[in-house]
Amino acid sequence: MSKASTRNVSVIVKATEEQVTDAVVDIFRQTIGEAVDARGLCTLALAGGTTPYALYLKMARVFLQDDVPWASVEIFFGDERDVPPDDIESNYGMVQRTLLDYLPIEPKRVHPMPTDAEDLAAAAADYEDQVRGIVPTGPDRLPCFDLILLGMGTDGHTASLFPDSPLLGEKSKLVAVDYVPKLGRNRMTFTLPLINAARHVVFLVTGADKAQPIARVLGDDSDRVELPSAWVNPRHGTLTFALDAAAAKLAGIQPQ
Ligand code: 6PG
Repeated sequence: MSKASTRNVSVIVKATEEQVTDAVVDIFRQTIGEAVDARGLCTLALAGGTTPYALYLKMARVFLQDDVPWASVEIFFGDERDVPPDDIESNYGMVQRTLLDYLPIEPKRVHPMPTDAEDLAAAAADYEDQVRGIVPTGPDRLPCFDLILLGMGTDGHTASLFPDSPLLGEKSKLVAVDYVPKLGRNRMTFTLPLINAARHVVFLVTGADKAQPIARVLGDDSDRVELPSAWVNPRHGTLTFALDAAAAKLAGIQPQ
């Protein structure tokens, strides 16, 4: 058993990517239902990249049959590339094509990051104001998302928090911009104070290429801190890693 279990981390491992995607759909369904029942509102932050593509398509299919209270759901994005929404690289554009175009959710409840703005730092501050204005605060008086979905890169980055980024030490900004040398691009991203204020954080990580970084994140070796994903540790919330068998292989965790 990985050491993660001693750190109040849940690890779900399923044999296939489709099975772990289904498990995350269930987590979304349960989270939305509980949040709306308890507080009349569910606030979500979605991840970009390619891994969640199948998840969003499945959510679109499944949630069309369910009576999800979309009038009580607000959707944000954990990070975004410095491209306009209609660019193929846009995380918002990907989520729109795979999920939002199929859901009866009003556009005013979907909050894309304004990364096509001239002044990205000012745009990040504006987005933070949107988050603060809509997402209720939690025990530490920070906006407390009901669920933040994260992916992880092969270098252990998550959202747009990359190894050696100065943003890893950010203590006050909740949304910030960082130039990513390896990409040669700017990114807008949630920072760790916001991510770690969430009620539930779920990593969806699949594929053999993520096995090594995931094993390090879930392990106890001191060098795990080189991986930004290892810095995700909700202060009052839950942390779940949803993995397929290929990603979990080196962590020594068998599919359930
Ligand atoms: C992004 C994502 C990023 C992603 C990882 C994993 O903007 O790219 O938010 O953090 O989750 O890079 O990406 P893949 O799912 O494509 O492996």
